Amino acid sequence: MTVLITGAAGFIGFHTSLRLLARGETVVGVDNLNAYYDPALKARRLALLAEHRNFVFHRGDIADRAAMAAVAAAHPDIDRYINLAAQAGVRHSLTAPFDYSHSNVEGHLVMLELARANPRCRHFVYASSSSVYGTNTKLPFSVEDRVDTPISLYAATKRAGELVSHSYSHLFRIPTTGLRFFTVYGPWGRPDMAAYLFASAIVAGRPIRVFNNGDMRRDFTFIDDIVSGVVGVLDNPPPDTGTTPPYRLYNIGNNRSEGLMDYIGLIEQALGRKAIMELEPMQPGDVKETYADISAIQRDVGFAPATPISEGIPRFIAWFKDFNGL
Ligand SMILES: NC(=O)c1ccc[n+]([C@@H]2O[C@H](COP(=O)([O-])OP(=O)(O)OC[C@H]3O[C@@H](n4cnc5c(N)ncnc54)[C@H](O)[C@@H]3O)[C@@H](O)[C@H]2O)c1
Repeated sequence: MTVLITGAAGFIGFHTSLRLLARGETVVGVDNLNAYYDPALKARRLALLAEHRNFVFHRGDIADRAAMAAVAAAHPDIDRYINLAAQAGVRHSLTAPFDYSHSNVEGHLVMLELARANPRCRHFVYASSSSVYGTNTKLPFSVEDRVDTPISLYAATKRAGELVSHSYSHLFRIPTTGLRFFTVYGPWGRPDMAAYLFASAIVAGRPIRVFNNGDMRRDFTFIDDIVSGVVGVLDNPPPDTGTTPPYRLYNIGNNRSEGLMDYIGLIEQALGRKAIMELEPMQPGDVKETYADISAIQRDVGFAPATPISEGIPRFIAWFKDFNGL
């Protein structure tokens, strides 16, 4: 059994690959190792994956049709896809819009075309984002809620990925499942995200930028819980009833909305140092609060997040210190 994982050198792709390798699957990883954040971190993750006999890596761009066709031709036994490669980050989409249309729209379509051309395809799982909820103020966010009001290009491209997937599930009966991730953190996490940014600034004695004067809430989800959800979903493709397409969307979060100041407090505690805070206004494109209703994924695949931030943050900081030789 072979799974194609795009974004395999990324934060979530790395952990998902490890989990699937551990249960004996063959993983074909694809990543273009771009420099949106330090590619050395991606190389370190890849080096760990390369220790597994069943891991094969192709450096390539998911929007490059010829390169992806070559990957498919080299691995005719691929029967499932996990498309995690994307241009992530809300703020960067204000300055580099075409990175988002390239990877998140064009690239997503190229991957769906691979699945369409593959008669063995059993399931196409892909990353969406809690940011699709945009100006939604009804909490917790439910997959039943309307999501027509994105407030960043990043969110709009992630919503586009969901819509394009629906059309492919309908037209070509490809089982697709979109996962709306809610602020993922943990060991090997991204340096552009809050946990890493705050920890680096605190150890360097630099001030941290705290948006909306700290009045923000997030459904923070620990990486191990996310991976359990991704793998649980992978194993449960949506059925084709003949009347409705084999298409599903899930929220995948911790089902708790935590205050940003509490999150910072746990980072300070784990580092044993106080943060110097610069309180700033809300950033364009950001939302004040996220909170996931996870009843659908709980019901269908038994997803049960098990890591509160009081446990997850110390585990992240332990890795952060080790990784940075502190
Ligand atoms: N981490 C989170 O909190 C979070 C939240 C919501 C959604 N997501 C989504 O989850 C997915 C994984 O996120 P992550 O946190 O692991 O991010 P990441 O940036 O660590 O991983 C993405 C990987 O994809 C690769 N990539 C980007 N564009 C590519 C392209 N065109 N071709 C090939 N490779 C490409 C990058 O080099 C990177 O290694 C993304 O789709 C992201 O939008 C993440």
